[in-house]
Parts: sequence; structure tokens; C-alpha cells
Amino acid sequence: MGKVTVFGSFVVDLMARSPHLPIPGETVKGSMFKMGPGGKGFNQGVAAHKAGADVLMVTKLGKDSFANVALETMDRLRMNKDHVFTTERTETGIALILVDEKSSQNEILIVPGACATISKEDIDSLEETIKGSEYVLLQLEVNQDANERIADMANRYGCRVIMNSAPYAPMTDEFLSKLYMVTPNEVEAEEITGVPVNDLEGAKRAAAYFRDRGVKKVVITLGARGVFISDGETEDIIPAFQVEVVDTTGAGDAFNGGLLAALSKGQPIPDAVRFGQAVAALSVQRIGTTPAMPTFDEIEAFLAEH
Ligand code: ATP
Ligand code: RIB
Repeated sequence: MGKVTVFGSFVVDLMARSPHLPIPGETVKGSMFKMGPGGKGFNQGVAAHKAGADVLMVTKLGKDSFANVALETMDRLRMNKDHVFTTERTETGIALILVDEKSSQNEILIVPGACATISKEDIDSLEETIKGSEYVLLQLEVNQDANERIADMANRYGCRVIMNSAPYAPMTDEFLSKLYMVTPNEVEAEEITGVPVNDLEGAKRAAAYFRDRGVKKVVITLGARGVFISDGETEDIIPAFQVEVVDTTGAGDAFNGGLLAALSKGQPIPDAVRFGQAVAALSVQRIGTTPAMPTFDEIEAFLAEH
């Protein structure tokens, strides 16, 4: 099993469930509030770690009580904290998450705070880590110049870069050419490529956009419909598992973490996608983001049953 690095955001999720999502100017009485670890990078790092990968989590925190939410979670899960950077200049990031308790739709406002201030010096200190990693998984919640530096470093050392291009932000063609794999959801895929991803044909055309720019493998998540793969051999949709959904927040993160874990164990992409979808299917049956990520044993039991 190869080592992997997950490089990205930590924020504290402030999550409330509500009978419906408020419209502008409206006040709605919610039914539940939970505060806990989140951020796409952290969710994906924890998902991969719990799914059995050898993960080094890289993120940046402020020096405040919210930072302890990350540190305590990492201690509890026995995750390596060697590359958790800190700054006194900015607070730890937060996300305000509203979940409609009937439809399970969500609305998220994220303030990345410290994790959008990853410096050149921070990145320089990761040289040995990236050198020793088979894959590095990125997202778009940190400052993009940091992602660009990491991608350059990874390319220098033959570490494969996986970009979960979420939430949408523009990426240059030069940056795309450095990626081994992209894993947008269907909305992000359309925002990046300009191609509507409503069906298999649309997904194939979006994949061609990425592959024309040098991305080797394209994986597009399609919510409850599953995952589209274009890896040079398979170009098709692998259906999602059918489960009772409680909260889909962080489903994409669960999928990416699971996918990374399976790839690091040498699984071919279609098998790794199925594993990632099992992780996501388990996570949508639970409330929350980082806390909803399943263990390796739970994933194995789920796969044996389905
Ligand atoms: P989020 O932004 O909520 O984290 P996302 O939009 O990035 O999610 P999705 O495409 O919605 O990602 O979901 C990722 C994967 O999670 C899907 O490909 C699927 O395997 C699984 N998933 C999502 N929703 C469901 C569902 N309702 N039932 C079963 N699996 C689901
Ligand atoms: O993908 C879900 C995550 O997006 C949440 O944990 C929230 O922090 C936002 O960044």
C-alpha cells in the first residue's frame, strides 16, 4: 500500500437542520444544531484514513478554540499531525450548513480562514512528504497558488495529483495539464467545461474537455445516479448503491476519500470507484460530514451485503 497525502481545508462545520431552507429575509426555527470537524480536505483525509489508507493530512488552522476541533479529532483517530500548519494572523475556517430535513438538500457558506493562507514556506516543508507519496488529493477550498505549488512538486517527484474540483473555482489549462485525475460533480464539471452533464453523452464530452488538456483520468460524480468514469478503458456510468438517505452533505468527500484509499491499495479505477461509492453510501445514511465517515470494517461489511 502506497502512502498518500490529502492537502486541503479544515473548517468547523456549524450545521443546522430545518423544516425548510430559509429564503432571503426569512427566519426559520430549526430542529437541530451540531458543531463538528469539516472542510472538504479534512473530510476526505478522515474518510481515506478510516477506509484504511496510509494518509498524511496537510491543512492550516488558526490559534483558537476551533483549531482544537481538528487536533482532537486527529488525536482520537490516531492521524499524523506533523503537517498541520498554524497561523496567528487568521482564524480557523468555518462553514455554515443548513440541511432541509425533508429533502436533505443543503446550503453551505464557507469562510476558509487560515486554510486559505497556505504559504510557499509551508509548501516547501512538504518536499519529503510529497516525494514519498503515491497520490496527493486536492480540492478548491484552499488558496489556489498553494495547490499549484503542490501540483508542481508532485509532478517533479512522480506523485499523482487527484483534483476534486470542489467548490467550483477556475483552474488554468496549465494547471489541468499537471493532473492525473479530476473528480468534479456534475455541476462543477459543467461549470469548468461549459458542457451540460445531464446524460452519458454529456459526460463523455466533458471528459474529452479534460483529456484534451492533459488530464489522464476523469471521474464525474452524479449524486444518486452514481459515477461516470473515463479512464482510457472504461467510459461509462457505475450506478450508486441504493440506500435510505439522511444527509448527503459530504457525500462527495466520502467518495473521494474512499476512492483514494482504494487506489492506494492498487485497485483498478472501476473497483476503486465502487469502493468510494460504498463509503459515500454509508456516509449519506448518517448526519454530518467528518463524523459520518465509515470505518474499513463497515465498508467491507456493506460491500459484502451489496
Ligand atoms: P456534496 O457536495 O454533498 O459532498 P457532491 O455533489 O460532491 O456531494 P455527489 O455527486 O452528490 O457529490 O455524491 C457523490 C457520491 O455519493 C455519488 O457518486 C454516490 O456514489 C454517492 N451518493 C450521493 N447521493 C447519494 C444517494 N442519494 N444515494 C446513494 N448514494 C449517493
Ligand atoms: O463537502 C462538505 C464540506 O463542504 C463541509 O464539511 C463544509 O465544511 C464545506 O466545506
